Amino acid sequence: MTATTPTPPQEPALPLSYPFPLGENGQLPPLIRWAQANQPVCPVAMPSGARMWMLTRKDDIARIFADPRFSRKLDDPATPRIAGQDITTVGRGLFSLDPPDHTRVKSVVSGFFTRRAVGRYETLVRSHAAELLDAMDDGPNPCDLVAGYTSLLQMLVMREVLGVPEELWEDHRRVFPSASSITAGPQETATETEEIKAFTARVIAARRRLPEREDPLGALLRAAADGTISEEEMFGTAFLLFFTGSDGIIAPTTTGAMILMLNPSQLRPVLDDPGLWPKAAEEVLRYFHNGVLGFPVIAREDVELHGVTIAAGDAVVASMQAATWDPRHVNNPEKFNVRRREDAAATFGAGPHYCLGAQLARLYLATALRALFERHPSLRLAVAEQDIPWRNDIMFVRPVALPVTWSEGTPA
Ligand code: HEM
Repeated sequence: MTATTPTPPQEPALPLSYPFPLGENGQLPPLIRWAQANQPVCPVAMPSGARMWMLTRKDDIARIFADPRFSRKLDDPATPRIAGQDITTVGRGLFSLDPPDHTRVKSVVSGFFTRRAVGRYETLVRSHAAELLDAMDDGPNPCDLVAGYTSLLQMLVMREVLGVPEELWEDHRRVFPSASSITAGPQETATETEEIKAFTARVIAARRRLPEREDPLGALLRAAADGTISEEEMFGTAFLLFFTGSDGIIAPTTTGAMILMLNPSQLRPVLDDPGLWPKAAEEVLRYFHNGVLGFPVIAREDVELHGVTIAAGDAVVASMQAATWDPRHVNNPEKFNVRRREDAAATFGAGPHYCLGAQLARLYLATALRALFERHPSLRLAVAEQDIPWRNDIMFVRPVALPVTWSEGTPA
């Protein structure tokens, strides 16, 4: 479980040791805030023992993650990793490819994730949300919103978006969410990676026996069959879609519900004007970034940045939350403000590996939060905010439970 440190450290010892204590209620970790102000290219020791350079300024992240002098080929066994045999060991998935291979593989699935394309999932999210809220109404009050809503909704929606055949729904429920600790050691990390790989292989085998479907996995299977992408690229990318489509959206739905309950003055205008839900979701995505540090890029040659030499072979990681809290770009970043003008784009990364699911995450989050608070405008925490059980040692940092209560008989 996590410790939170509300006060910024004075002069921490370097390298910093990852994972970092979180900021209060998921605010930017104080060590990241310190690095952003004082050490923009900051050495960090990872749980694996690897040393990496951490970037925390929005402009640096945008520049370095788009710089061809850095590579994303992480599937070499010697590559430095944050924790053990993590998902970056899966060969030739989108995460681990450089252009032009990366461009070729991404183009097979990108059409399913445009803003227009994901619009068709709104009804799906809304109808599963309503089912879960009905079940919540019939169950105990208070209840745990993570168990009853945020993690189940992800599962019900994503199994349809990604086309998990019905015979494997139980498997899908068992494997996801996948929240093993990044400090648990290489064996546990490797076991989890293997479990998700085995699940992906079962889905692919089952989908090959079934009629073709017009969805991301269907497109990957067709592209592998006609030789546009290799079998390995198809597998690695399917694996990645299952992985990123799981905990990655449980986390903002949970933190989003939390922050709106903690800030009734921000929730009120959104309830009064439902047209504000996309902006509220955007502000949740800006305010929290549930993956504190993303996966690294590796320098192909020596690169100078802020007087530091990033040597060829060194790994560089970024805090996307630092980018969306960068005071050079965002006024009062610590203020949660549903009407702010700055967007959350930087939460989804930069450069060629910019998040494929950004529009889906936005639509999902706005729809899921709206359904929740329209059903229960009186929703509030059933514990003191300092007793919310955050974990900072999982890849998608979030409260692992969120006890909530509501007034019975509030309008639907
Ligand atoms: C709020 C939720 C999400 C956040 C904050 C998020 C954030 C990110 C970030 C920062 C990256 C870049 C990582 C890097 O540079 O390595 C990324 C990549 C990616 N995301 Fe997301 N993501 C979210 C939801 C999703 C969803 C729902 C999906 C789809 C199922 C998805 C699919 C992907 C994929 C496939 C990549 C790799 C793209 C590539 O390598 O070209 N993400 N995401």
